[in-house]
Amino acid sequence: MAVITDMVDLNIQDGIAVLKIKNPPVNALSKGVRDGLYEGVKQANADDSAKAILIICVGRTYIAGADIKEFGRPPQGTSLFDVHKEMENASKPVISTIQGTALGGGLETALCSHYRVAVTSAKFGLPEVHLGILPGAGGTQRLPRVVGVEKALNMMVGGKPVNAKFALENGLIDEIVDDLFEGGMAFAKKVAGKGEVLPKVRDYDEHLVVAKADTELFDRYRKKIARKTRGFDAPEAIIQCVEDTLRLSFDEGIKAERNRFMKLVKSQKSEAQRYYFFAERLANKIPDVPKDTPTIPVNSLGMIGAGTMGGGISMNFVSQGIPVVIVEHEQEALDRGLAVVRSNFMRGVKRGRVTEEQVDQMMSLYKPSLNLEDLADCDMIIEAVFELMDIKKEVFTKLDGIAKEGAILATNSSALDVDEIASVTKRPEWVLGTHFFSPANIMRLLEVVRAEKTSKTILATVMGLSKKIGKVPVVSGVCPGFIGNRILFKRGEQANKLILEGTMPWNVDDVVYDFGLPMGPFAMADLAGLDVGWDPRISKSQTIRDVLCENGRRGQKTGKGYYNYDPETRAKTPDEGVKELILEFSEKMGITRREFSKEEILQRCIYPMINEGARILEEGMSQRPSDIDVVWVNGYGWPTYRGGPMFYADTVGLENVLAKLKEFQEKDQDDFWQPSAMLEKLVSDGKNFRDLN
Ligand code: 3HC
Repeated sequence: MAVITDMVDLNIQDGIAVLKIKNPPVNALSKGVRDGLYEGVKQANADDSAKAILIICVGRTYIAGADIKEFGRPPQGTSLFDVHKEMENASKPVISTIQGTALGGGLETALCSHYRVAVTSAKFGLPEVHLGILPGAGGTQRLPRVVGVEKALNMMVGGKPVNAKFALENGLIDEIVDDLFEGGMAFAKKVAGKGEVLPKVRDYDEHLVVAKADTELFDRYRKKIARKTRGFDAPEAIIQCVEDTLRLSFDEGIKAERNRFMKLVKSQKSEAQRYYFFAERLANKIPDVPKDTPTIPVNSLGMIGAGTMGGGISMNFVSQGIPVVIVEHEQEALDRGLAVVRSNFMRGVKRGRVTEEQVDQMMSLYKPSLNLEDLADCDMIIEAVFELMDIKKEVFTKLDGIAKEGAILATNSSALDVDEIASVTKRPEWVLGTHFFSPANIMRLLEVVRAEKTSKTILATVMGLSKKIGKVPVVSGVCPGFIGNRILFKRGEQANKLILEGTMPWNVDDVVYDFGLPMGPFAMADLAGLDVGWDPRISKSQTIRDVLCENGRRGQKTGKGYYNYDPETRAKTPDEGVKELILEFSEKMGITRREFSKEEILQRCIYPMINEGARILEEGMSQRPSDIDVVWVNGYGWPTYRGGPMFYADTVGLENVLAKLKEFQEKDQDDFWQPSAMLEKLVSDGKNFRDLN
């Protein structure tokens, strides 16, 4: 066996040159892999005892892409293009054997092999779009030539991997094998020394001829993806590269792809998206809870509450085959809740994601109950009852007497003191918060609230479980609103002041929307319902919200709130009456209204969020700034191309944020703007939030 580099070795077995890549955990195309592949293919090609070259990866996956950590650094070693050229131009068949995920540069490398075989569980994708870049090693030119233009666009602009069945049906792979090595070897022997011209993807043109005939294909595609890709640069660049496959030669197309790739990779948007990729993974790490902390199995869930939250939360568990005992007060609420769950699952059937049999199977995992005692055997119990401390305490007191020893007790509270809730039990170390976001079956964020006494085992167990049920967990300390809502409250407070002092809800919403969030604070309030937490018995027109609710304007569900809503399309339009009402209210409060520029509106909405984020860090309620960013991207739709509020603050310059806070404090004579000590310190030390990650 010849060691080519520390990441690649070469071995001739039964007349086949086996190039083995080992660069755990995901066999990324680091320098050692590129150098090794280049040299290995060269040596194997020159070795008369080898009739074919088999590329195989050690571990759980084939190459999962370029090494993202190398981006932004000066290039080193062999370029991926030279590796690909060596493979494609080899005089003997090169075969890639694929397991796990062939992603990005990995799939691009596979596409430069003459043949590809894979195991059934393998996935294939070009997800570069999620990093704000495009497939930059020939992917935009080769993939359309294999699977066709529209499917290639879907794979590259959507960034979602496809499975082995799709890959086989669409020519991405040549065969599905049972055993990666044995199957790969058998395939290699089959094609070795056949003397046929070796297939090169770059020469395929069948799909391009078909696409050329469809003159509206790209217009249609652009329209289809416009809403989803708003604000991102990579999708349009990918489309342009694919258009090139129809108008340029392969080599010219590669050159144009390179230019667009370089432009994107240097952009701040891509930097933000790459930062975010690592931020999400970093959020899983808890400094004082090492990776080898023992965990306990969770094979059953008890869910208290079958309403919107309880139903949604429980869906995540049955989707993973975990049985759920779901408890309600009354049969009617139980029936209604489970009917909603079923209809939510059935939407997946309509979209072809699951079959009706699978829905039946998931529904069969529910055990409906009207009795808390039925939770006695559950490994974990989550309550999603009314958000009032007394009610939560009552539930936990009862649970303490019912749950088996060793059961995890979780509250889905979105803001309450988890320590206080835990204190009513005799086992506070088994208690923590699991704050799901609505709709809980869809939203990826899970704030895992670590209470004072929560044990490390419980924390590690819930972090692992979150990943299993498809959530992105972020640890939060106990504070009102935890990380996400605590920051949201600050933005809301300022947004309300803005409309009192001079602007209108739609102006604020437009600015926030243009910044990249899916909606502004007032549209969001309308969606949530203006009467959440509003009590008609005590309402005395003290806020604009009070007045709106008193007038029956309670948000989208009543067809009107800050906006009017079209009953069919739910499209929103500003309302003259609301404008009048706001003007009257300001006058009544004796406020002299003034103009706000878009820039000031943005600063007044976003900078309090940054300041509050800094306070959260100061108090140790978040482990690191990037965790706050993960919360805002996943829970509130903060655009990934702006990294998150803390990353964004760094891009604005912390000294600029601080100066504005002080300016507003002076102007408004309001302590709301008091800069956090953490922000002051970072500025005086010349540091950024990123330095704290
Ligand atoms: N480069 C560097 N590190 C990577 C990496 C990559 N491409 N992909 C994953 N990692 C690291 C992660 O940061 C993580 O590190 P950590 O343990 O220190 O936190 C570790 O590998 C394991 O990753 P995950 O926790 O994500 O493991 P999973 O098993 O959940 O997922 C995966 C594996 C599906 C491969 C997922 O890691 C992933 O999606 N990776 C990124 C794939 C990608 O985007 N590829 C394209 C890269 S860009 C490119 O190829 C450009 C080309 O066109 C020129």
